[in-house]
Amino acid sequence: MRSKRAVFWMAACGLLIAASSAPAAWQTPGPVDAVQQTDQGVELTTRSGAVLRVSFVAPDVVRVRMTPRRWFERDFSYALAAAPPVLPMVVEGDATSAAIRLRTVQPGGSWVVVETRPTPLIRVFAPDGRLEFAEDSRRPMAFDAADGAVETSVQREQTELYFGFGEKALPMSRDGQYMTMWNSDTPGYVPGLDPIYQSIPFFIALREGRSYGVFLDSTRRTYFDMGKTTPSRYTLGAAGGELDYYVFTGGKDHDAHAVLQAYTRLTGRGLLPPLWALGYQQSRYSYTPASKVREIAQAFRDKRIPADVIYFDIGYMDGYRIFTWSPRDFPRPKELLDALHAQGFHAVTIVDPGVKVDEDFPIYRAGKPWYTRTAAGEELHAQVWPGICAFPDFTQPGARAWFGSLYAGFLDQGVDGFWNDMNEPGVFIPSGWTKPVLVHDPAKTFALDARHDGDGLPGDHARYHNVYGMQMARATFEGLSKLRPQQRPFVLTRAGYAGVQRYSAVWTGDNASTWDHLAMSIPMLANLSVSGVPFVGADIGGFTGSPSAELYTRWLQAAALTPFMRTHSAIDTAQREPWTFGGAYDEINRATIELRYRLLPYLYTLFSESAATGVPPMRPLWFEYPRDVGSWQLQDEFLLGADLLVAPVVQERATTRRVYFPRGDAWIDWWDGTRHEGGSSADIAAPLDRLPLFLRAGAAIPTSPVAQHTAEMAGLPLTIAVAPGAQGEGRVYQDAGDGFGYRNGAFEVDRISVHADRVHLDVPAATRFRRIAALEFLGIDTAPRKVLLDGKPAGETAFDAASRRLRVTLPPRPVRDVELKR
Ligand code: GLC
Repeated sequence: MRSKRAVFWMAACGLLIAASSAPAAWQTPGPVDAVQQTDQGVELTTRSGAVLRVSFVAPDVVRVRMTPRRWFERDFSYALAAAPPVLPMVVEGDATSAAIRLRTVQPGGSWVVVETRPTPLIRVFAPDGRLEFAEDSRRPMAFDAADGAVETSVQREQTELYFGFGEKALPMSRDGQYMTMWNSDTPGYVPGLDPIYQSIPFFIALREGRSYGVFLDSTRRTYFDMGKTTPSRYTLGAAGGELDYYVFTGGKDHDAHAVLQAYTRLTGRGLLPPLWALGYQQSRYSYTPASKVREIAQAFRDKRIPADVIYFDIGYMDGYRIFTWSPRDFPRPKELLDALHAQGFHAVTIVDPGVKVDEDFPIYRAGKPWYTRTAAGEELHAQVWPGICAFPDFTQPGARAWFGSLYAGFLDQGVDGFWNDMNEPGVFIPSGWTKPVLVHDPAKTFALDARHDGDGLPGDHARYHNVYGMQMARATFEGLSKLRPQQRPFVLTRAGYAGVQRYSAVWTGDNASTWDHLAMSIPMLANLSVSGVPFVGADIGGFTGSPSAELYTRWLQAAALTPFMRTHSAIDTAQREPWTFGGAYDEINRATIELRYRLLPYLYTLFSESAATGVPPMRPLWFEYPRDVGSWQLQDEFLLGADLLVAPVVQERATTRRVYFPRGDAWIDWWDGTRHEGGSSADIAAPLDRLPLFLRAGAAIPTSPVAQHTAEMAGLPLTIAVAPGAQGEGRVYQDAGDGFGYRNGAFEVDRISVHADRVHLDVPAATRFRRIAALEFLGIDTAPRKVLLDGKPAGETAFDAASRRLRVTLPPRPVRDVELKR
């Protein structure tokens, strides 16, 4: 074994080599000269003047800050839902020690070791002593004295995988990738293009089945080199400011659930959406005039295709002036919205940040105190849809409050939800293109030296760029919450930063009508989900271009069980309603949307859990099966909750597809009841009308009869789909579907336990909500000899041999136990 001293010298020499090959301005903090305990954590002052501050936010969450200057800025973060706690801690060692050791006062938490020389190196250990996170001595924490950049590097094992990073047009695991966080308007982005619209500098690592997480809290341009340049380490850095990162060791089980719970405890959790927002949504750029909107809404009802929401894209406005209606095309908006409501539709309008510079436009005039300013102190102007615009500085509380108040008029007219777009911010390059060709042209956003208030920490656009969109969504969310405190706001945003889930749902921007994009939507949405953002979806069919009938049908199926389900298409594309493709497609598309409505009670239950824990409805397989190597890299399957395995067809002309069943559970085919053992793969029939779908053995999930929209569902009884043959538990969450009564107890959670062939229902005798009226057992080969309800023969049962389903109707009296006697 090498002596400690030898290791030290090897590290020090490595450092010299690294230092000599690095750009001249990179500098390490240098040896620790002083160690001081403060109420903000332990501060280590280094030879260069840089200071490190280490604290525990929770027993399994460590925060590290480093300022290249001698002082820290006021502790403020847009990402965090509240100021992070600082737990009392024990410090062993001082500036004279080779290393100091930090731990929380209560034993049993993680601990940190900081090597003090030649420059600080952070190591984070899990409570069981395992080293989870170790900065790399060959490229230690450093800052660039010339341009202010800060970074650190962490040792990695070459098999370590990384998930999260928000919205990236990349495969499921992001190991071996170099990624930048810089919110960018990237219409028609191709797979692999980076960055795109959202910046969520958080990831979950998976190593030998265990997880830890890292969050780099910086709204500036940040970068992540996840072993691309040097496979033995990853590097994270920001173009300026302090280095401020968190390490989540994942509690005692070191699992991704615990990491995500801890991350969302810090950055907040998505609100329970109003039930209507989980229904099917129809959009187009743009449905105009009003008669077209009415025609579309009517067609849904006439054709009996369920739908809840219709969108108004920019065409509804008067010359693209926000909060106006075109007097020619939408002369009586209230009347139109009333008519839509009468048909059970909700309306969502787009609201962009650009305010047309027009002295005759009252909103422009009223906004003058709140616009973003240039470095010279003038109102910043840039071109977007309305022509030259000014842009609220959403990093000012006053600007947010003002903008939020503008929603009053539209709410009064009956608009139900709002869609914030172009908020990277994205602007047109001043070259005559209405939409720029160069996706990453620097002129596509504000000048980097534009000024922002930063909620009292003034700074330039380079500093606040990545949080602009999220603060716009926040202005919307807070405005709606204030104007309609009894309603759950529905906000959809294109751009965002860590914590965006507190305010908004997210869609993946201007994707394209290609099979590649359909396939990529699964890793994109699954990774957004494990980045703390539960309410996510992609434009069905792809925004740019016109999908073939087959592509649209397959995409609708793939999206049917994603959290946010919306068809949307660009202005120059073919019509794209579920019935526009003719022939068998229309029938299939209807059935696909019906499937979503059947499973809505389950999706809603998952959202209620997500609001409480941060664990998202849509999950990559590894998230539930971290010890199953086979599940780690799957690109084309996902889980809805823990119980439904969804394996959409994402290849043209495929009529079967290979499905992997994660190890440790058995899976029952939703359609024909075939049982598949975990750890196996099978070729599954997937004719055009079938979305391969599997229920976990032991699961019990709520389903509903089909309704044409969510309000119609309220009176319909529930059926519990049960996959017998294993132990398990299911839950059904119900509440009013909107409003906040649930926070004061106006909700119900029913528990259903499954024990091989017996189901136990823990359900109140009388319910305020939907009654459980039947159980449907999947995977039943032959009709049981008897079905007993609380020991007595069941009245009504129906067995279907083809689908291997047994339906057991429950009488109106409470039933506790249902047993199949085979
Ligand atoms: C942007 C949006 C797109 C919208 C269009 C017009 O391209 O991403 O969804 O339809 O602007 O508002």
